[in-house]
Amino acid sequence: MNIKNTLVILIASIFMISCNETKKEEKTAQKKASKYVEEHHSYAKPNEAAAKHLSLNIDVNFDTKVISGTASYEIENNKASQIILDTKYLVIDKVEADGKPTKFELGQADELLGQPLKIAINKDTKKITVHYKTTDKTEALQWLTPQQTADKKQPFLFTQGEAILTRTWIPIQDSPQIRISYDATVRVPKELMAVMSAENPKEKTANGEYHFKMRQKISPYLLALAVGDIAYKPVSDRAGVYAEKSVVDAAQEEFSETEKMIVAAENLYGKYAWDQYDIIVLPPSFPFGGMENPRLTFATPTLIAGDKSLTSVIAHELAHSWSGNLVTNATWDDFWLNEGFTVYFENRIMEALYGKERADMLGLIARQDLDEEVAGFKDAPENTHLKLNLKGRNPDDGMTSIAYDKGFMFLKTLEKTVGREKFDVFLKSYFQSHAFSTMTTERFVEYLNKNLLEKHNISFNTNEWIYNAGVPSNAFEIKSDKFENVKQTIKNILKTNKVDKNVAKDWTTQEWVYFIRNFPEDITPKQMAIIDNAFDLTNTTNSHKAMVWYEQSVLHNYHGNNVDSKIEEFLVRVGRRWYVSTIYKAFVKADKVDDALKIYKKARANYHSVTANTIDAMLGYKK
Ligand code: BES
Ligand code: ZN
Repeated sequence: MNIKNTLVILIASIFMISCNETKKEEKTAQKKASKYVEEHHSYAKPNEAAAKHLSLNIDVNFDTKVISGTASYEIENNKASQIILDTKYLVIDKVEADGKPTKFELGQADELLGQPLKIAINKDTKKITVHYKTTDKTEALQWLTPQQTADKKQPFLFTQGEAILTRTWIPIQDSPQIRISYDATVRVPKELMAVMSAENPKEKTANGEYHFKMRQKISPYLLALAVGDIAYKPVSDRAGVYAEKSVVDAAQEEFSETEKMIVAAENLYGKYAWDQYDIIVLPPSFPFGGMENPRLTFATPTLIAGDKSLTSVIAHELAHSWSGNLVTNATWDDFWLNEGFTVYFENRIMEALYGKERADMLGLIARQDLDEEVAGFKDAPENTHLKLNLKGRNPDDGMTSIAYDKGFMFLKTLEKTVGREKFDVFLKSYFQSHAFSTMTTERFVEYLNKNLLEKHNISFNTNEWIYNAGVPSNAFEIKSDKFENVKQTIKNILKTNKVDKNVAKDWTTQEWVYFIRNFPEDITPKQMAIIDNAFDLTNTTNSHKAMVWYEQSVLHNYHGNNVDSKIEEFLVRVGRRWYVSTIYKAFVKADKVDDALKIYKKARANYHSVTANTIDAMLGYKK
């Protein structure tokens, strides 16, 4: 071989090696670049540049009702020339890239999505800092006067991030696909304590400055802050409650079984990944039963019934520590992956603690909710698919019984088909192998086929459940003898117009709810009075019983025992969306919108934006 040939070969092979190298690089780059799927509810382009860690440094001003400060991000930069954050109703004062002022631009405002904040960076930029403040239009924050709290002495503030509201108090890549760790410095009036979805203080500091750390990576909708005159009480060495002074002892008692729930959950699907599990009981305007902010569930005080009868909500929020916070829906179209799994898991935790009978009652209530929801969507059956298409719509539109209860029924039916043992092995490995990552419906189906159905040679109509309308005919039929008895009791009462009080003496809240919700269409106000006089339902202190009783009172024109003033008092005090929307819906159904509006005008100022938005639409209310 002469020198010339050797050279040619050498050059050729160098060329080939480098070609292969480029191909390899391209491949990994491509793989990296397609890490995040397309979605409709965020302006961010995380495949170009993605936030990895947030350092928040803010002042909470109760006089001006403004949060102001800086949000700094360490970013993963794929040689991008800009990074885009989501903002809504924020004032952006200044932006820095690696410590130096940089150009930024707020794009056009969209009523639902807000404005993209486009920040100029270069291919080496590692960190950006946004100086900003919130405005009076912020949708995540609810600033409460002392009068709106339990103790009536100090003001209160809480945030609600899910689904796309975090961008109204922090400029952020507000997509559930983003995962960030965070630290925060928060300054509040020194009479108040601040807590976050992070490692929390157990006592107030002297100067009102608090430091937080969340080392596990979470999605932006799980960033949360509450500020108020609160105290801490433990219920075990890794669980406890925060609440105002007049509530904290009752909260500690009500939620004393939390540790048992954590143990039951761990036995099912693996170790609790977030170290501490606390619950903060908020003032009654909190718009949800519970919100699964990591390490610190936010809860409505309406759960405190005095007899632990409404704690399935805690089982639910705890369950989200796996389904939702550990394995997160990639987009809001996949919301059922968060909520359907969580209702199923909640049911399993309740079964472990209180037995199958109780779990079946909860399951049957879910089934009834589902059937009502499906019937209500008869003219828009696509809303009954598990996998949704919420393009151009508020993710809140997907917060229906479909995601929750059809999701639950799907998993329950799957469990019954493959057998509990195999199903539990499958679910445990699903959570373990996808911890701290996001999941699309399609990827879940793939995983299910491979690791459960094909593995055991089982056929199942997964696609029908997920991509079709309604409830498939193979839905497992949940039965409850307890509820059969309740049905019989209703029949007996209405036949004889007499009540044997004894039949109900051991009823659980679930039986009461089933009883009240299953009155026939033609029950008369007189019969309602007979029932009320026997059981004093108008004056019940159990919020769930009250809610369904008020619903029936409105629907069936019952006005005895001053129930109307009770209903008004409830609607003005409580802002839990599910409760109040059920009652307002009854007014609409009974053709009493004017009565509803009269109450709503008094109540609205007490509601968080997510509740107010829902009721505005329901009653056709214009500000
Ligand atoms: N994550 C939800 C609350 C939520 C959903 C907030 C969508 C914003 C958008 C929470 O876990 C939840 O489902 N709460 C329920 C209670 C549960 C027992 C069904 C509620 O508040 O009613
Ligand atoms: Zn939930």
